[in-house]
Amino acid sequence: MGFPEDFIWGVASSSYQIEGAWNSDGKGLSVWDMMCRKQGAVWNGHTGNIACDHYHKYKEDIALMKKIGVKAYRLSLSWPRIIPDGIGTVNDKGLDFYNKLIDELLNAGIEPFITLFHWDYPFELYCLGGWLNNDSPDWFAEYTKVVVDKLSDRVKNWITINEPQSFIIEGHINGTHAPGVKLPFNQITHISHNVLLSHGKAVKIIRENSKQKAKIGFAPTGEVAIPATNKKSDIDACKKFMFEINDKSIKQNSWWLDPIYLGKYPESGLKTFEYEKPRIKDGDFDIISQPIDYCAINYYFAPVIKADNNGEPVIVPFEIGHTKTTFGWYITPEMAYWGSKLLYERYKSPILITENGMANIDMISLDGKVHDPQRIDFTHRYLKEVKKAIEDKIKIAGYFHWSIMDNFEWAQGFKQRFGLIYVDFNTQQRTLKDSAYWYKKVIEKNGENI
Ligand code: FCB
Repeated sequence: MGFPEDFIWGVASSSYQIEGAWNSDGKGLSVWDMMCRKQGAVWNGHTGNIACDHYHKYKEDIALMKKIGVKAYRLSLSWPRIIPDGIGTVNDKGLDFYNKLIDELLNAGIEPFITLFHWDYPFELYCLGGWLNNDSPDWFAEYTKVVVDKLSDRVKNWITINEPQSFIIEGHINGTHAPGVKLPFNQITHISHNVLLSHGKAVKIIRENSKQKAKIGFAPTGEVAIPATNKKSDIDACKKFMFEINDKSIKQNSWWLDPIYLGKYPESGLKTFEYEKPRIKDGDFDIISQPIDYCAINYYFAPVIKADNNGEPVIVPFEIGHTKTTFGWYITPEMAYWGSKLLYERYKSPILITENGMANIDMISLDGKVHDPQRIDFTHRYLKEVKKAIEDKIKIAGYFHWSIMDNFEWAQGFKQRFGLIYVDFNTQQRTLKDSAYWYKKVIEKNGENI
């Protein structure tokens, strides 16, 4: 056994990280346009003004995806490009960009997976209170309707929201991502509830308006963990670590996935957030918990957990020299097995790995090529764990490598290179890295070489 015949081999990106064209053809401002203008917010003052200039080079980029042989491409849309003020008048030129992009993908035989929100939030809506505003779920529904009306004749796969924990924690607690504010915790739980309602309303809009049967997912961060051993006590401690909420944080995935799949917040979270829990109105969970098709998840790194004498989870520190990427993130392939297994056991929904990849020191060598053996090894290791999970009867629908190309890595600017394709940000020249050729073989063999 190995990867199923219909396994989705994909690559991923997001609008602000690759498109550029920040003020072209009527696009409105995004909170990331605003963040990049804040002194000291982004490494070396980099901005996404041009990024990979994908807005102008999308045909070339899709031709490269075709060359790699990817079956699917996970892209996100820039909400302010489509509706400059976030609500109200639609910018036809902006929407048409995605229209052409989708046609180009389908002509190349590549299945589009659209993420509706990957942090590219309209600045005008932020000025109205952003996610704190109780109308924000309706704003998101309105935007979703515009997109679904236009694209659902050709697009069947949707991810509503990418990594809510990241844009809420980095953007609204730490202030290191857009919009760069630091809010008290009761406002954070309020935001999380509005984000969940936004997800639910978007699911409803897609189901009611899609021109074909749609498949929908929600992609939180890979807040998973790896048990130190296969002993039941360590596995139980690992589950506790993943699903019980004992500190004031909206990081854990149970805060997000329990409402969606189980129709309620985890008791431990409600107890821990006692005076700071969100106001839940009648019917909210009916909106939030509509059935979805994929438990999407992004895998980068995870802690190792063991049980103490009372069965409580404790983090096992990594040994000295445990390998890290250039981002400083530990390499922890086993998360792809354990994360998928424990999420699948709890939510019983097919896993879709919507991101996985590493930042590396990549450069064009004297021979004109980009040799990135570390990325090949990294991906191979994570995919081995994916395969192991599949062989253990855990349903995993697909894998999207982050990223198709080097891009604007948020607060890190262009410091971190995550691509299968190297981008020279001065000339905009693209070069396929060795990992791209390796991934091509993996796809051709449907993972038999993993
Ligand atoms: C994830 C984000 C993605 C990218 C990778 C490296 O958290 O979803 O946009 O920045 O990390």
